[in-house]
Amino acid sequence: MVKLIIRHLSKSYKDKKRKSSSALKNVSLDLDINGIFTLIGRNGAGKTTFIRIVSTELLPSAGRVYLDGIDVVKNPKEIRDRIAVIPQEAELIPWMTARENIYAYLLWRGLSFKEAKERTNAVISRFKLEKYADKLPRKLSGGTKRKVLVALVISSDAKIIFLDEPTTGLDPISRKELWDVLNQLKKEHLIILTTHYLEEAEELSDYIIILNKGKLVKAGTINDIRNAIGYPYAIKIFNGLSKKIRLNGKVVKKNDGTFQVFSDEITANNLAKKLIKTKVKFSINPTSLEDIFYMLVGDINKEEEK
Ligand SMILES: Nc1ncnc2c1ncn2[C@@H]1O[C@H](COP(=O)(O)OP(=O)(O)O)[C@@H](O)[C@H]1O
Ligand SMILES: [Mg+2]
Repeated sequence: MVKLIIRHLSKSYKDKKRKSSSALKNVSLDLDINGIFTLIGRNGAGKTTFIRIVSTELLPSAGRVYLDGIDVVKNPKEIRDRIAVIPQEAELIPWMTARENIYAYLLWRGLSFKEAKERTNAVISRFKLEKYADKLPRKLSGGTKRKVLVALVISSDAKIIFLDEPTTGLDPISRKELWDVLNQLKKEHLIILTTHYLEEAEELSDYIIILNKGKLVKAGTINDIRNAIGYPYAIKIFNGLSKKIRLNGKVVKKNDGTFQVFSDEITANNLAKKLIKTKVKFSINPTSLEDIFYMLVGDINKEEEK
């Protein structure tokens, strides 16, 4: 378990032309985390700002951050050996092969030539990258490049890995491959991830934080969040709903004529029994993260307004 304590964290950016804009607003957390810890939110919600501050790249405007027992604002150097970061839109160095990229990174982190070489070989074989290792990045697919980047940060032996939108722009197959890699890595590392793909966050995360306009909206396991909003179950009713059946909970009528009813367990059970009697086609599932996000914040694909 890694302790993450955040107290009243705020960040405003100032530049000459624009007035100051507030990217994080009074965020506080106190958690023991392991596995995959995911920040979700729209573009502009503050995810990258959060990652940059917690990984010591950026100073906050106010507040404190303690990661693994270290005050990262006061003592950034103390945490740096324990963390590795792939920033949003990170690229491999284009004139170096995949192997050279990994090797150079390890030298930069302070390893000896010998150790860097051994670790580079080990990580290439672990990630089955032998076929690609001696190619330049421009010869590699987007998915393979992303895998090389993950291999590179993992080779450092850092306990805590930050990945800022590692799957954005990848095709579905490469994305699933990367999920497999992350599911392996979470056994040995804490992964702090950001994504705006909600099914990805639901599939991978042990803990989720929802940010909106720089504010913390909800935090918890997916089940915590489902229960906290009071609608842990989603019933989808396909057609032929009798007018006699009253729908309790939160009812959404979709354009295709189906209904979606969000409710607690007892209400869901009662409704299911009635629907079975009237032979209406329906499905019942735990409420998806996408539906939860929609209820709390709205459409994830809308740009964040300032
Ligand atoms: N370097 C910067 N200078 C000025 N404003 C910034 C800078 N970086 C981010 N912002 C602003 O801060 C807000 C949060 O951005 P960011 O943390 O990148 O969000 P996300 O990663 O969730 O898309 C946005 O309104 C963005 O425009
Ligand atoms: Mg970002």
